[in-house]
Parts: sequence; structure tokens; C-alpha cells
Amino acid sequence: MIQKEQVRVIKGLLDHLDNKTNVKADGMIKNPADTYTSEDRFHKEWDNFFLNHPQIIGFSGDLPNKGSFMTADDFGVPILATRDKNGEFKCFVNVCTHRGVIVESQRRGEKEKFSCPFHGWTFNNRGSLVGYPKPDHFGEIDKSCYGLKELPCAEKHGFLFVHPNENGVINTEDLLGDQLIEEMESWNFKDLILTQEEEYVTDMNWKLAIDTFGETYHFSTLHKDTLFESFYGNVQMFDTFKRNARLSLCKRQIEDLRTTPEKDWDVRVGSLPVYFLFPNIIINVLEGGIIVVKEYPLENSPHKSVSKVSFYFTPEAIGYLEEIKNGNEENFNPYIAFGEIIRDEDYVAAAASHKGLRSGKIDHILFGQNEPALHHYHNTYREALNLEPMPLIKSK
Ligand code: FES
Ligand SMILES: [Fe+2]
Repeated sequence: MIQKEQVRVIKGLLDHLDNKTNVKADGMIKNPADTYTSEDRFHKEWDNFFLNHPQIIGFSGDLPNKGSFMTADDFGVPILATRDKNGEFKCFVNVCTHRGVIVESQRRGEKEKFSCPFHGWTFNNRGSLVGYPKPDHFGEIDKSCYGLKELPCAEKHGFLFVHPNENGVINTEDLLGDQLIEEMESWNFKDLILTQEEEYVTDMNWKLAIDTFGETYHFSTLHKDTLFESFYGNVQMFDTFKRNARLSLCKRQIEDLRTTPEKDWDVRVGSLPVYFLFPNIIINVLEGGIIVVKEYPLENSPHKSVSKVSFYFTPEAIGYLEEIKNGNEENFNPYIAFGEIIRDEDYVAAAASHKGLRSGKIDHILFGQNEPALHHYHNTYREALNLEPMPLIKSK
């Protein structure tokens, strides 16, 4: 984030603290309960936001070396992503062209050739069919017609994008906009190393998982013994970038910045910037790296979802975190803390909310003036599905 913007965010947070204010939308909005429970709404989202929208499957650090690969199967099309001998990122449908079997079943690793487990057809990491057993028995085929199906993909600003539709277009300027691209570049995501992955499967709509990241109004109650000890609740800055947004949470450590010259301010000392990248990615920016959450519906259902959590750190931060793991340092451990807060507190509340909404006994939920990120996400989803925005309800 450019220094001027870091200073603006920190000053905004300090102003809110000093004046006991918060970011404020011009009203509240009512979000219909069926946003989360309707099968029809779910199928529209699946089609528009997943099957036919560019997907961020990871970061450059997911494919650290020439010969690295990873697989994903979260949005309807099984993906095999590789880094070839030239260092180029490639994406293929992970489906054998012989009889349709999933070719590579490991999540990640180092491999230049992929042999299908059924009959052993073998593809290289540029997708070409390089051999098949017993061609004299099987019959002669034109190998160049039986490579893995390639998908549009791009490695940009440290992100790995793939489009599940072979005719899809990935235009990061359109998706993110110049200002957010500059900000993403400034965090040097491309240099981060993947250190850990986790999955939280929850009985709730995928958007309820995202909603938990969208406000700090709940910190003093739901997180009173955890996050609230190191964060102020109900204080934040909020900024939008096309369909994307940044919520800047307020750390109690912001008090240290009051006596630090502005030119030395690091926004991450006083704030936790949380980016929401449309439609399903959350990036929490820490001092030594990022924690990324990718939200996906599960089992073709509005009622079940999985949060895929990936931790990426700088080499320096990794050394420090190892010391914590080995018990030589008593300090904040992001690996443990994230699960204890997000999985064990936020998602428990969100799953309860899903159950309540599914009862059919309330027809809407209410987003307050102090929850503008929720207004933005939900109106953005609606706009993308050609639904009317939800009107603001003025306070009496
Ligand atoms: S299905 Fe892959 S080799 Fe036969
Ligand atoms: Fe929370």
C-alpha cells in the first residue's frame, strides 16, 4: 500500500477512536433470507461466479519451482496447474483424454510428467500426450489431438488466475482496477512462500463465511476472549475498488503509532487490512505475510461450504514462526489463532445463522450502517446477477 494511503487509513482509524465514531453507510439494508437458502439463487451464483468467472487458485508461491504442480477441484472443473521448464504457469483440465479419469490426484508436488492411473497414458507439464502403452494393440492415434485441455490462465501481481471456461478471458485490469493492482503489487505477494493449508467444512451458505469477515461490530461479544483483546471492535475503515473492497480493522497496537513519525507508519502495525476479491477470496495482510481464505459451495448446495485457508509468509517470518512452534517464543501463533477464531467462533455463529435462516421464520436479515462491507458485497453480487440493489433504510 502506498505510504500516503497507509497514513490516510491509520489517521482515519485514530479519528474514529478519538471521536467514538465508525465508518457509516447512509442507512441500513435488509438482505432477503433466501439470498442464502434459495436453490435458484445458488445455481445462478454457481454458473456466474464459479463456472464462468476467473478464479484465483493460489499465489506464485503455490508453484515455487520449475516442475512444480498443484491440483484443485473446487468450482466444477478439475484443474491441474503446472510450472514448466521455462517457469511458465499453465493450467489444464485434469481429465484424461482416453476415458475421462482424473489424471493427477495429489494436491501438489514436483513432477514433469503425469501418468493416468487407469491405463497409463502420460502427459507432460505442458499438457501434451507424450505416450500411451501398447500403441500397436490399442491403435494408432494422432497424439497432438489428445493432449490435456488447456484453460486460460495468468500469473499476475503474485496471483494465479485460471478461467474454468476454455473461451473465458482473464483481464486483471478489468477485475481489479489500476488502484488495487498498484496496491497488490506493493505487498509483493509473488515473493511469499506457502507454509500451510487447512480446510473448514461448514453447514452454511458460502456467503455467510464471507460475511463473518465483513464487520467488527461482533468483536466485543463473539470474540470477547480472543480477538477483542488485540483489536478494537466496531472501528474500521472501508474502501472499494470496482467489485472488490478493503476493510481496515483496528489493532489496539495502533496506540504505538501516536508517538511514531507519520513517515515511519506501517499500516500493518495499527491495522489488519482485509481484502475481499470478488467473488470469493479474502486476503488478511499480516506483518510477515498473508492468510488467504477461498470460499466455495459444496455438494452443489446452498447449505454447505468449504473454506480453504492458505498461509503464505516471507522467509524471515517463517524463521520466526518456527521459533514459536518450537516453543522458544511465547507469542501470537497465526496457525493456531486463525482456526480458534475463524473456525471455532465465527463459523460456529455463521452456521447457527444458516440454521436460523433455513427455518423460514425470518424473511430478511439486517445490515447496519456500521457494516458497509456487507452492503457492498451483497449489492455487488446482486448487480452481477442483474438483481436490483437493496435500498438504504434511513435511521429514524
Ligand atoms: S483413462 Fe486415462 S489412461 Fe485410460
Ligand atoms: Fe469474527
